[in-house]
Amino acid sequence: MYKVNDDFLWGVATSASQIEGAWKEDGKGMSIADCLRFRPAIDVKDYKKVNEVDTEEIEQALSDTNDKNWAKRYGVDFYHYYKEDIAQLAEMGIKAFRFSIGWTRIFPEGTEDQPNQMGLDYYLELVKELRKYQIEPIVTLSHYDMPLAIVLNSDSWYDRQTIALYEKFATTVIDYLSEYVNYWIPFNEIDSIIRHPFASAGLVKDRFTGKNFEEVIYQSMHHQFIASALVVDYCHKNYPKMQVGCMITKTTIYPYDSHPENILQSMLQMREVYAFSDIQVRGEYPAYLLKKLENEHISLSFSEGDPTFLAENTADFIAFSYYSSVCTAADTTGLKVSLANTTKGVYNKYLQQTDWGWQIDPVGIRISLVELYDRYNKPLFIVENGLGAADQLTKEGRVHDTYRIDYLRQHIQEVLRSVKEDGIELLGYCTWGAMDMISASTNQMSKRYGFLYVDLDDFGNGTFKRYKKDSYFWYQKLLDFDTEIPENFFDK
Ligand code: BG6
Repeated sequence: MYKVNDDFLWGVATSASQIEGAWKEDGKGMSIADCLRFRPAIDVKDYKKVNEVDTEEIEQALSDTNDKNWAKRYGVDFYHYYKEDIAQLAEMGIKAFRFSIGWTRIFPEGTEDQPNQMGLDYYLELVKELRKYQIEPIVTLSHYDMPLAIVLNSDSWYDRQTIALYEKFATTVIDYLSEYVNYWIPFNEIDSIIRHPFASAGLVKDRFTGKNFEEVIYQSMHHQFIASALVVDYCHKNYPKMQVGCMITKTTIYPYDSHPENILQSMLQMREVYAFSDIQVRGEYPAYLLKKLENEHISLSFSEGDPTFLAENTADFIAFSYYSSVCTAADTTGLKVSLANTTKGVYNKYLQQTDWGWQIDPVGIRISLVELYDRYNKPLFIVENGLGAADQLTKEGRVHDTYRIDYLRQHIQEVLRSVKEDGIELLGYCTWGAMDMISASTNQMSKRYGFLYVDLDDFGNGTFKRYKKDSYFWYQKLLDFDTEIPENFFDK
């Protein structure tokens, strides 16, 4: 028998720009996500190109009134479907629903003095609806959709003043939803700024000509750390019941083989993610990051008081997403390439791949739990784990996604093994996603993650009708067991 705590949060996860749609309704402003489109001419496996956005692309987005070209403008219309969707997810048995706040619903351009009341009310209704079914809201404040106006009228997160705009947004939302929300995540995958600076921080490379763009990224990163610490400080001072987590993309990077050089290489690459949680959990920049910045002639500007503020406002828990692992080597010449979440590495011959080339590694999620708990000794929260696949809807309105059931079965079993044997502390587990939604990286609809199939294609055609997939019924069975799950439930 596997056991989890009585208050363990079994759930699902989403983000505003990938589900809501209604991009102009009820006073919402334009966000950076509204400028992203599926570009069939770019190979979806070329994660760098797929995630690159320049000024020309933004100008096209601004002038194009055909919303069907811009997938996150219509999402899966959760803005209007939320009651039906939540009812179906409640029927599946979830105890937690992770979603994010569209910043531009609250402050359309980011700089207004007063928030948009209709935006605040929408999220209030949403959390009330969740509470109606005893579902715990897990709220991400910023998930890849900052106001476009901040990007165009300033230097975005490179500009220290953006911290104050974010603070106003964050504290407004926290106050308004305080009665209903206990768990907050200031930024989704804060480390992703390194891999896709536009989606994470609104940084458009060609707007910084003459500057070292790496330095721009790291300076913006520092500003996001201060912004996160402000959320911690605000919640702790005003609402002691609230917990604030940091969130990282927990890709696991193995050495390709036992050659010491390759083992060293994997350690060094893991630091690219750990640097972020190290700062937010331990409250100071690790020596290895300071040395790297020094060696690369990147100098960050800190305000007086920043180090103390970071040290005094560390995260209460460590949230992370986990999808896959990759390998690495000191010299990768000639080695087969494989992909993971917005990154790539060396192919692992022991693992299978998804339709999008991400390697499937259930043991890697347990390794992640052990690594993170051993490193920080703080509560962990898996806030994303799932399989993006090209599901097919049958004529009878069914989706036989046995591959997704297999993925979840194997990953969740490893999670429960870890709880049973590794002594980790885990607050909950949320799948990515809930209903299908627009892919964050490729802007495709056909890369589906949900338990509910949404009738929509990559070009915005479809009825938006929802259908329960086979995985919906599998997860429902698991959630029925709640805190005590028989081990043979995971037998194939
Ligand atoms: C995570 C993001 O990195 O991966 C989500 O937080 C995203 O927003 C998920 O959807 C899966 O990635 P993708 O690119 O397949 O949608």
